This record gives sequence, structure tokens and C-alpha cells, in this order.
Amino acid sequence: MELREAILQRRSIRGFLEKTVSRDTLEEVLKLAQRAVSGKNFQPWLVHVVTGAPLAQLAADNVARLQREEPIKSSEVTPSGVYRQRQVVVGKQLFAAMDIQREDKEKRAAWTERGYRFFDAPVMILVCMEKSLRDAYRFDLGCFVQNLCIAAMEYGLGTCVEYQAVYYENGLREYLALPEEQIPVVGIAIGYPDPDFPANAVVTEREALENFVCWYGDEEQK
Ligand SMILES: Cc1cc2nc3c(=O)[nH]c(=O)nc-3n(C[C@H](O)[C@H](O)[C@H](O)COP(=O)(O)O)c2cc1C
Repeated sequence: MELREAILQRRSIRGFLEKTVSRDTLEEVLKLAQRAVSGKNFQPWLVHVVTGAPLAQLAADNVARLQREEPIKSSEVTPSGVYRQRQVVVGKQLFAAMDIQREDKEKRAAWTERGYRFFDAPVMILVCMEKSLRDAYRFDLGCFVQNLCIAAMEYGLGTCVEYQAVYYENGLREYLALPEEQIPVVGIAIGYPDPDFPANAVVTEREALENFVCWYGDEEQK
């Protein structure tokens, strides 16, 4: 796949075919992802690939915690201003695609649950890092994750990066052999995209360059 095409075609995939992904393919994707940049070549990503029974258990555990309204572990901020606006726009796009009305509490709850079930993907890749590295190295994990999402496309796979996958850390610790010193940072739902799943067709917006880029230097570049 041509690089430009891959970058432009990538979008979050939230509906997958019931088709397993071979270990060989996942290894190829991970080998490409690990070519990502990292400060001082630390390569701080620690990865847990979850499929089959443990994935089903984790998904069920997440949904149970959600239903009993267990508080989530999140370091995200409540968005305001332009960030809130962008969040609202993508939410509207997804709900329109899925035919979910704003006031339809049941459908909205089902949509939220879907995220906690890793969108029923056949594989969930949990990306962790060592606690001792603190937040500074989250950036490197982001580079790894973006590389992984693009690399996956070469094998016909789709991905959705999701914080929802790590909101219930206790469950992750219960079902996976996460060493105490590892903190879960993000999960990636991965599998073969369902071409008929409406939300997969959503193309999210991006800002015009003049709204986030400042130029300095040569006049002729303007
Ligand atoms: C760190 C991170 C966390 C995310 N968490 C979620 C999530 O919990 N649930 C979800 O549906 N999408 C999640 N997303 C996907 C974003 O909503 C998506 O990337 C964004 O709306 C842009 O859309 P696109 O990926 O289709 O270009 C997350 C993305 C990132 C990078």
C-alpha cells in the first residue's frame, strides 16, 4: 500500500469481521510498529496481545464494571473550547452513521458498551509502559501506536486506538499477567474491518493548516 494512501485512508474501525488474525500477521505488524522513533531509543512500549478466551473474559468484565458504574481510571481532562467542539463533531458523525438519536439512552449505552467490549474485535493489543518512566514516555508509545495502525493496513487490518480499553485497570490486572511495575496506557482493537459496519465509513475532520501552523523565515515560503 502506498504510504500517502495509507495515511489518508486510515480511520478508526469499530466493527470487525468474525475472522481471526494469525500470529504471524500480528508479529509482522508489531515488527513494523517497533521501528517507531523513541527518545534515546528507549523503546518503552510493553505489549500484551489478547485474543480468544481471555479477551472474551476481559470484555465481559469491563461491561460488568460499566454496568455497576465502577469509577474509571482516567487521566483525561474534561474538554472545553475547540477540543470540546471537535469531540462533539466526531460524536455526532458516529451517532448519525449508527442511527443513534441523542435522546435514545438505550442505543447510546449499547454504543458505549461496544467500546468496552473492544468493539468485538478478534484481538486487543494492550500497550503498557514501566511506571518508573512516568508520563514523559507516553509520547513514544504514541509513535509506536500510530506506526502500528498504519502498518496494520498493509495486511488488510483495521484498528481503533481506545482509552476505553484501559479504564478498568483492575480487570486488566486480574485477567492478564501484568507485572506490577507496568501501567496500561492504551488499548488497540484490531482485526479485519467489517465493510458493512456504518461507523467504519466515518471520515473525521481535520483543521486547516493556518489554524495550527506558524511559519517563520523566508518571505517566498508564504
Ligand atoms: C489515545 C486515544 C484514545 C482513544 N480512545 C477512544 C475510545 O476510548 N473510544 C473510541 O471509540 N475511540 C477512541 N479513540 C479514537 C478517536 O476517537 C479517533 O482517533 C478520532 O476521533 C479521529 O478519528 P479517526 O481515527 O477515524 O481519524 C482514541 C484515539 C486515541 C489516539
